[in-house]
Amino acid sequence: MRPLVDASIPTYVFDDRAELARTLADEVLMLLVRPQEAVLGLATGSTPIDTYREFARRRRESGLSFAGATTFNLDEFVGLGADHAQSFRRWTRESLFRHVDFDPARTHFPDVDAHDLDAASREYEAAIRAAGGLDLQILGIGRNGHIGFNEPGSERDSRTRIVDLHPWTRADAAKSFGSLERVPLRAMTMGVATILDARRLRVVALGMAKAEVVRETLRTPQSSALPSTWLRDHADVRLYLDRDAASCL
Ligand code: F6R
Repeated sequence: MRPLVDASIPTYVFDDRAELARTLADEVLMLLVRPQEAVLGLATGSTPIDTYREFARRRRESGLSFAGATTFNLDEFVGLGADHAQSFRRWTRESLFRHVDFDPARTHFPDVDAHDLDAASREYEAAIRAAGGLDLQILGIGRNGHIGFNEPGSERDSRTRIVDLHPWTRADAAKSFGSLERVPLRAMTMGVATILDARRLRVVALGMAKAEVVRETLRTPQSSALPSTWLRDHADVRLYLDRDAASCL
């Protein structure tokens, strides 16, 4: 792992993706040994999967317990049932909760089944605050610079809300949904300000498809046109890249 000199976000490039996952897992697991409970923000998708597998390995091999942790997922599609194959609730259950001993009573998802989605968005914010705020938020980045589903145009002071998904986001999701038409039009997401309130942000980008957005995130002027540029404002943020994602730097 090598740090990138003079980057606008402290950035670390890993030759080995497994080492990246171990590094991030170590940071999360450090929080679990604190006497007060840890509050984790969880991303879904291909980026954090190795880190979640690393959690499972530590659980299996060292008996490490996650039962004291509280989790809040970043985002969820509107219009999919909790058991839909592409819902983030199902993904998180299958990819993470099945393999480690998180306490279901302490896991939280945006309530996209609520009758009043705006009220449910405000309640999600309130629940994060009531838990004491996020100790560490794991993030990926979309090719369009989204963090969570804060699509281009998302302001720095945005909070948990319903958003329209950007065409690139829907196009990227179309493969797993089977067709573009099946991809929901809307989602509930933590806002940019909600994310920036987390005490630590650990942002991961992997692969050539992210190389250009990583360059822009670090080097273009901050603006809502590229929400990932807001990450530079955080006091304890780190960007973890594999070599491909760092290839435009
Ligand atoms: C997922 C999320 C998104 C993804 C981003 C990258 O919960 O909020 O912002 O992190 O779209 O997706 P992957 O990791 O699939 O490339």
